[in-house]
Amino acid sequence: MSAQKIEGKKISDQIREELIAETARLKQQGVTPGLAVVLVGEDPASKVYVGSKEKACEQVGFYSEVHRLPAETSETELLALIERLNNQNSINGILVQLPLPGHINEKAVIDAIRLEKDVDGFHPQSVGNLVIGDDSLLPCTPAGVIELIKRSGVEIAGKHAVVIGRSNIVGKPVAMLLMREHATVTICHSRTANMSEIAKQADILVVAIGKPKAIDSSFVKPGAIVIDVGINRMPDGKLAGDVNYEDCLESAAFITPVPGGVGPMTITMLMKNTLTAAKRANGIKG
Ligand code: GUN
Repeated sequence: MSAQKIEGKKISDQIREELIAETARLKQQGVTPGLAVVLVGEDPASKVYVGSKEKACEQVGFYSEVHRLPAETSETELLALIERLNNQNSINGILVQLPLPGHINEKAVIDAIRLEKDVDGFHPQSVGNLVIGDDSLLPCTPAGVIELIKRSGVEIAGKHAVVIGRSNIVGKPVAMLLMREHATVTICHSRTANMSEIAKQADILVVAIGKPKAIDSSFVKPGAIVIDVGINRMPDGKLAGDVNYEDCLESAAFITPVPGGVGPMTITMLMKNTLTAAKRANGIKG
């Protein structure tokens, strides 16, 4: 048996087509979704991400603003900008690109974003709403993981899902979302004993640890779906996931590649969140 590759790029393109159509319908009702992206400083990777977010807005037909601020920007100045964007009607979503320069308190900045505009899903109240099952904007990468599983035709309810990694931005919210989809969820992390034995019980295995090729076939139950959230830059310049893709091809039924798996989904889910925020702000259901 050989695993079916989950084509994240294709699935992401398909969702973007759906978003383009829905945005066109919203515009006919006089609503244009708007996203503000804030970049502080010159981090090269962040610059690339912000550029991709700007392009994605253009592609789906959103209004967008990119605020590129110098690295010396004070926390007070940044908070003042966020307050302005919180009150700006043309803006439905605010994304502050992380990491921020060391002199700015990231938590204070995230907390300042109005809940309805928290398209990253990082605000503590968004996280709380996710945990108790209230409506909230879902963090983009975790939402992308769920979308990839569903669009691969894999049923989540009743399955055993094992999440390796417990970060606030991926591991914990992915586990919560899988539980919300009625999976039985186990979370493994750096202090877990017998990790491969636990992982090998998973029907759904999600890996987000930031260690290149750390997970091989000894962690994978035959027939499992394997979702690799890791993106690691190797010494030769190539990208590698947290999963040893080649080694797992035999045992897995479905597996995401890196690049081209989870990665393309993140910005697409950001677009989806912005559209949802725009609909909610204008009292449009569905
Ligand atoms: N930096 C790396 N990933 C992300 C993300 O998903 N959101 C934000 N705001 N910053 C990031």
